[in-house]
Amino acid sequence: MTKKIFFTIALALLLVNSSEVLAQATLRKSFNLNGKWNVIVDWYGSGNAHDIATQKRPVTKTDFVEFSFDNSQTLYVPGDWNSQRPELKYYEGTVWYKREFDFKPQTNAQTFLRFGAVSYRSEIFLNGIKLGEHEGGFTSFTLNAARAIKTGHNVLVVKVNNERKEDAIPARKFDWWNYGGITRGVWIDEKPANHISDFFIQLKKGSLKELQGFVQTSEHKKQQVIVAIPEAGFKKSYTTDTSGKVALTASVSLKLWSPENPKLYTVKVYNAADTLTDEIGFRSIEVQGTDILLNKKPVFLRGISFHEEMPQRSGRAYGEADARTLLTWAKELGCNFVRLAHYPQSEETVRLAEKMGLMMWEEIPVWQGIQFTNPQILQKANHMLAEMIARDKNRCGIVIWSLSNETAPSPHRNSVLKQMASDARKADPTRLISSAFDHFKYNGNQILIDDPLSESLDVLAANKYMGWYAKWPSEPGNVEWKSNFNKPLIISEFGAEALYGNHGSKDTAGLWTEEYQEQLYKDNINMFNKISFLRGVCPWILADFKSPARMHAQCQEGWNRKGLLSDKGFKKRAWYIMNDYYKQLEAKPLQVKNK
Ligand code: GCU
Repeated sequence: MTKKIFFTIALALLLVNSSEVLAQATLRKSFNLNGKWNVIVDWYGSGNAHDIATQKRPVTKTDFVEFSFDNSQTLYVPGDWNSQRPELKYYEGTVWYKREFDFKPQTNAQTFLRFGAVSYRSEIFLNGIKLGEHEGGFTSFTLNAARAIKTGHNVLVVKVNNERKEDAIPARKFDWWNYGGITRGVWIDEKPANHISDFFIQLKKGSLKELQGFVQTSEHKKQQVIVAIPEAGFKKSYTTDTSGKVALTASVSLKLWSPENPKLYTVKVYNAADTLTDEIGFRSIEVQGTDILLNKKPVFLRGISFHEEMPQRSGRAYGEADARTLLTWAKELGCNFVRLAHYPQSEETVRLAEKMGLMMWEEIPVWQGIQFTNPQILQKANHMLAEMIARDKNRCGIVIWSLSNETAPSPHRNSVLKQMASDARKADPTRLISSAFDHFKYNGNQILIDDPLSESLDVLAANKYMGWYAKWPSEPGNVEWKSNFNKPLIISEFGAEALYGNHGSKDTAGLWTEEYQEQLYKDNINMFNKISFLRGVCPWILADFKSPARMHAQCQEGWNRKGLLSDKGFKKRAWYIMNDYYKQLEAKPLQVKNK
């Protein structure tokens, strides 16, 4: 072997090793600002942002300052304010939050402020400088803190307002408690100046081997990035374009994620200065006629819906422990699927559900009376959709993105939601798109799905309360469902209210008995067994939840009582009906109907 060849190989090896070694290092660091924050409740919204953000204090003898955090009340972050202070239970308005922290930035690192969620609109000030604002109570957002962060002592002020507005999403009326506050965690993230700012890696729709996605670097220049799945023996180098982006394609044999085997891989994405690591599963999800295929096999979604609420605490759920409680309840019921109603829930919930082998439906709160005629609504809704997909696009447990819930068909609504369906497909071509309908045509004992939005969806979803909001047109087993679309159907909501421990007649709704709810579940299951294109059901709802729309003095008192579990987590009679039904379904795997 000539000297020349030897040196070339040695040099090549050196280069690879040096870039790999280089790539392993990262300045990435995060710490959270959770805990007690000082607050000012600003009922009339009359606080002056500059004075409060700069913590104006009296200077001369005649000065006085009313909006000051000195010796002020405190609230926990993460957490809603409604369940932390009795006087704030019904509060809708502005609350100013302050958190002081010391910080020593790393050299060559960029600093970001990340919020898991703030309900509903927020303005963020760091050391008196306004970093940005955000609208939407359920999606995470990140702000670059470079122009305000200081070495040493820092003062972070967040103005939070949860007033319900016509042009908001959701709008003025919705059937859950309007919790306000910094409801999920807050982090300071440090990243190298040239870092991996985003990446997406999932299996192509309908493929068991073909990976697709992208890598985006913060520095917009041509550079090498490497994607590795060490356990699968996969490692590939890509070169970004001048905008720092490169499309990911590769063919890899992987153990596929499924509810029975929720396999996750450590995936590493790195460039010369940064390494980003994540736990990611790979599965294919697609529809074929009226079948939903998970990893090419037909699947029936044994689901349950739940709000992000801990009933025992009458407060917003947050963190891993709360997520584990809710998801364990779902597993115990026999579910392989959960509907995160009606908004993106915490990242802890989504990641834990995936680890526990639960497929998910995730949606944005485009709920009932949205102002679709308002030209801003599409932009707002699309922004929430983009934030939802951006956060959870690598979560294989999520199989369905839902665009809306129970919005009445109209030309404006149809065009906004159709546009959103195509935008969602552009952002993520690997998952299914749906929306929950509640407008159907009736003809005797037939229920016809003909919502024009169906064309733009992969999966049809029906919220139908037979025996509660809707009377049975005939014997439950004789009710026929029809659709003009050769697509799978999910019953995304059904159910009835019952006060736990309240026993009596099974045929009188107004008595709120467990027996009525139980019978209604039996009747609905009887109907489900006759629907040929049914591929999933999602009872409304896992547990009783708080709602200002539910004021029956004796049986509701501000609770929607449609839970299969009471507000203390006790099982109602209907729970056992649903659990039996799921056991039967699990024991009888689906056959492919549509070749
Ligand atoms: C609707 C709606 C839910 C609501 C439920 C109910 O279908 O989607 O948000 O809570 O019905 O009336 O209980």
